[in-house]
Amino acid sequence: SLDRALREDPRPTHRDQDRAREAISDPPELGGSVLPARPGAFVNTPDTDMSTPVNQEWAETITHRIRGSRLGVAEAEAARIGSLEDVDRICREALEAQTAWAARPAAERAAVLRRAAQVLSQHRAELLEVAASETGKTLEQGDPEVSEAIDFALYYADQAEALAAQSEIVAIPRRLTLVTPPWNFPLAIPTGSVLAPLVTGSAVVMKPAPQARRCGAVIGRLLREAGVPEGVLTIVDAPENEVGRALVSDPRVDQLILTGAYDTAALFASWRPELRIKAETSGKNSIIVTPHADLDLAAKDVAASAFGHAGQKCSAASLVITVGSVSRSRRFDAQLADAVLSLHVGLPSDPTAQVGPVIEPPGEKLAKGLGELGPGERWIAEPEQLDAEGLLWTPGVRDGVREGSEFHLTEYFGPVLGIIHADTLEDAVRIQNGTAYGLTAGLHSLDPDEVAWWTDHVEAGNLYINRGITGAIVERQAFGGWKRSAIGQTTKAGGPNYLLQLVDVADAHPRP
Ligand code: SER
Repeated sequence: SLDRALREDPRPTHRDQDRAREAISDPPELGGSVLPARPGAFVNTPDTDMSTPVNQEWAETITHRIRGSRLGVAEAEAARIGSLEDVDRICREALEAQTAWAARPAAERAAVLRRAAQVLSQHRAELLEVAASETGKTLEQGDPEVSEAIDFALYYADQAEALAAQSEIVAIPRRLTLVTPPWNFPLAIPTGSVLAPLVTGSAVVMKPAPQARRCGAVIGRLLREAGVPEGVLTIVDAPENEVGRALVSDPRVDQLILTGAYDTAALFASWRPELRIKAETSGKNSIIVTPHADLDLAAKDVAASAFGHAGQKCSAASLVITVGSVSRSRRFDAQLADAVLSLHVGLPSDPTAQVGPVIEPPGEKLAKGLGELGPGERWIAEPEQLDAEGLLWTPGVRDGVREGSEFHLTEYFGPVLGIIHADTLEDAVRIQNGTAYGLTAGLHSLDPDEVAWWTDHVEAGNLYINRGITGAIVERQAFGGWKRSAIGQTTKAGGPNYLLQLVDVADAHPRP
């Protein structure tokens, strides 16, 4: 069967590919210069596409299976756990299990994570299928996400051993961690967010997003198969808000790892101000294109960053800011329209789909983004609804968005992109920094002086130069935001020291 074939031939992950690349060539550089990273920011030089090509034969088998499912309907795989009355028992059992888990040597917990990487790899097909059928993830988007989940397991295993080997500090696990992951990365983010605290010795309760309950159940089952003991990880399958509120409010929960909207994280913080929250939140990300850019490449990268997973990534490009002659000539607008209109929109059951469905019919906010134009705006690609339910949309591109307008400042989380015209790079950076958020930011320019100036002035966690702005890779591109794109995060996911913010730290050799 397909699953067996995959088990016998586990496919390389991004980290494997990185290592292979390092062994055969020098890392790619921009115009011969290596850029310094600002504290807290990651600067990524140009890159080749890191996604693993999807093998045609099993793509077809998976898509055949997906066809039988009805998108958007979550059937819980496991028995439903987690009514309001269960919260007390779940926390109690988690704490009981945590004592023995934390007493195990770090190397043993790391070994469980390495085993988890194997199990996830062996179940790649099942993971792709469940993400596609439950959340509408296309194969093109789902496949690198499985690799990311595997990479998180391997990376956090290494990091936990490194932390345990430090001679100056002792890491003391926090006993109980609550994880509330998002639906838009229903595999990698839950896996990474669960395994990071787990490997430090914490017990974890995860409440999957209501739209990704089956994904959460499958991840829970696979992690248990890998050796995570009963009670150390509990998947709470309860879409109701009161259950989430009871968990967030329970004083036994030491910390919360959340990925989702800024408003959700702020609401949780208001329920329990003393709770340690590590949240990666919203974004309003943009790519600047200057006259020194390779415009063909820029158009392709902007289109991919804006419309991959139908724009439903916190890292997605929601705006492109053109500079000087790029604004005036409008040639770039035409190139961008061409690139966008050539994207193939389809359900995940279509293995060639590049822009998949939105998770649910657009609510008021997204409908506004896909709908009426603001003053001075015009469509260069007008969004069109392709299905009766309102899940499939052709990408929308609105030209002439004004600085300070609603479209400039609001996150839409869907297949719509705005173009803002700026006179100078300085103006463009002011516009780029002019939102409440600071998650990802991009620049297309082949001029090293522009690149250096931009790198010094842009306010965002992850900076990308001459490439797309989504798809951060574990270890290479630690991921996290500035401003309202994060709450309480001191170090970034998938990067060095991420585990350090999840533990309490004591001196190894306190003075008497
Ligand atoms: N890590 C994802 C990306 O980089 C977003 O969560 O696209």
